[in-house]
Amino acid sequence: MHKTATLILFAAAVLLFSTLLWAQNKGAKEIIIPGGTTGNVPMKHHLHQKVLVDCNLCHSLFPQTAGIIQKLKDEGKLEKKKIMNNCQKCHREKTNAGLKTGPVTCKSCHVK
Ligand code: HEC
Ligand code: HEC
Ligand code: HEC
Repeated sequence: MHKTATLILFAAAVLLFSTLLWAQNKGAKEIIIPGGTTGNVPMKHHLHQKVLVDCNLCHSLFPQTAGIIQKLKDEGKLEKKKIMNNCQKCHREKTNAGLKTGPVTCKSCHVK
């Protein structure tokens, strides 16, 4: 009897945990960020999530909403290149540390 109760409790916990994981909206797998006349910037969103784990490494600067970067810029609420500087800073730091990372030159991020 005791054993069955423990098993049921365990199953319920697993179900709750997987529901919570599934419920988190991770957004698009790949994202193309508008980059003005220099060209748009494609990035693998889910790859970053997997490698970096902490959403706030990017989302402390803007909410988890599609199109928000351009919207905030249009409203004058977000400085141009502010997000870019955050991308570049991390890539540079990792490059300097000899770790696998993303591009650091204009043309490897901005595509036309
Ligand atoms: C390396 C930077 C980065 C990280 C880390 C990151 N995101 Fe994002 N996320 C973005 C960008 C860029 C956008 C697009 C914003 C826009 O369209 O203006 C975005 C958009 C989103 C959106 C809106 C829907 C969409 O697909 O555009 C959701 C939801 C989201 N992110 C969830 C998450 C979650 C959850 C995590 C952590 C598990 C996370 N993000 C980690 C950069 C990041
Ligand atoms: C790590 C990727 C990355 C690199 C490297 C990079 N950029 Fe960007 N850039 C972005 C992203 C993402 C945006 C859009 C978000 C923002 O404005 O912060 C952007 C925005 C810009 C904008 C503003 C566009 C606008 O009208 O709002 C200009 C101009 C620009 N980049 C030029 C450059 C130049 C010149 C270089 C090389 C010296 C460069 N970028 C290197 C990712 C990058
Ligand atoms: C906190 C660190 C960090 C931040 C912030 C970050 N990146 Fe990266 N980026 C990485 C790492 C680490 C990799 C290598 C992932 C791998 O291949 O395992 C990477 C890979 C990439 C790549 C090559 C793979 C791909 O996505 O096509 C691009 C392009 C890229 N990043 C663009 C961006 C852009 C644009 C931003 C800002 C919106 C950004 N990154 C913000 C750490 C970061």
